[in-house]
Amino acid sequence: MRAVVFERFGEPAEVREVADPAPAPHGVVVRVAATGLCRSDWHGWRGHDPDIALPHVPGHELAGVVEAVGDRVAGWRPGDRVTVPFVCACGTCAACAAGDQQVCERQTQPGFTHWGSFAEYVALDHADVNLVPVPEGMSYATAASLGCRFATAYRAVVQQGRLAAGEWVAVHGCGGVGLSAVMIAAASGARVVAVDVSARALELAHAFGAAECVDASRTPDTAAAVLDLTGGGAHLSLDALGSPATCAASVAGLRRRGRHVQVGLLPSADGTTPVPMGRAVALELELLGSHGMAAHTYPPMLELVRAGVLRPDRLVTSTIGLEAVPAALAAMGTAPGAGVTVVEP
Ligand SMILES: NC(=O)c1ccc[n+]([C@@H]2O[C@H](COP(=O)([O-])OP(=O)(O)OC[C@H]3O[C@@H](n4cnc5c(N)ncnc54)[C@H](O)[C@@H]3O)[C@@H](O)[C@H]2O)c1
Ligand SMILES: [Zn+2]
Ligand SMILES: [Zn+2]
Repeated sequence: MRAVVFERFGEPAEVREVADPAPAPHGVVVRVAATGLCRSDWHGWRGHDPDIALPHVPGHELAGVVEAVGDRVAGWRPGDRVTVPFVCACGTCAACAAGDQQVCERQTQPGFTHWGSFAEYVALDHADVNLVPVPEGMSYATAASLGCRFATAYRAVVQQGRLAAGEWVAVHGCGGVGLSAVMIAAASGARVVAVDVSARALELAHAFGAAECVDASRTPDTAAAVLDLTGGGAHLSLDALGSPATCAASVAGLRRRGRHVQVGLLPSADGTTPVPMGRAVALELELLGSHGMAAHTYPPMLELVRAGVLRPDRLVTSTIGLEAVPAALAAMGTAPGAGVTVVEP
């Protein structure tokens, strides 16, 4: 099959022929129809993920058609249209038994723990635990974002963030995760402040329901802007970029007893990030993490998509082929955000 491969972290990837994957006994191989380019792919390529072994094929936000099925898989057949949470759970550890497959103790992740979906085919583990049927009428390009960023944003806003109608939400970083969060929060009846350095990203955030937009390239203190616009601070705030500055600004823009959800990855040499904990104590803030979303919690989100309340299709601003992925991956280091790029292998 053709796949995007890199041999060294941070050095140009290339498209070339590699061996086709085979399904594990509990797994499937999916023919990739659409796969989103997520900033986590860029983190992986830069060497921020210790799970990645070289040479490597990235890609983890996907939808496609089941091609081959392991002999212990009960619920899936070749030809089924599927997507998958990028955290593929084992189904049997203590976290899985508690329903928390998104933090499975023995999770695998395509594009991180093994070769991913910037390829014609990808192997997925524990298919009976992890695969999600793509609803009839939904395109693969739309369904791909349900594999990572749209679902992750849904969990961050709804499940971890416990957003209520009428609350103020701040979203720092309006790329794939952030724009999804803006759309989901606005559809939940919240008032959203979108923060980004890119005018195009803020335009999209406004179109997806943000009540206020803050241009971080021209606003030195974005937390002060959020405190001002929300009349005392956001009830819920997301760092949907992942940087010490956006993390701190998210916490600093909360009101009393507000909730911060960290979605953006925060790679650092020693694995730590400074957080204004004095404010967390004095204002009784909640600091939460969010990591993907378990397959069994997809139905309410899919129902909102089916009803047209949530429109992940509107996030897709660009569609490219495999050969354009190496340059697109490298460009994520510098280019400002402008919606979601989907790869159609
Ligand atoms: N926790 C999880 O399960 C999970 C899942 C998916 C992605 N992620 C992580 O979420 C983060 C976002 O991913 P993405 O694919 O949406 O990224 P993206 O590149 O699409 O979007 C990032 C956005 O941040 C904006 N930005 C840059 N600097 C900024 C600043 N100083 N202030 C405000 N905005 C700024 C960019 O213009 C862009 O719009 C990444 O760290 C990714 O690895 C985590
Ligand atoms: Zn992702
Ligand atoms: Zn598990």
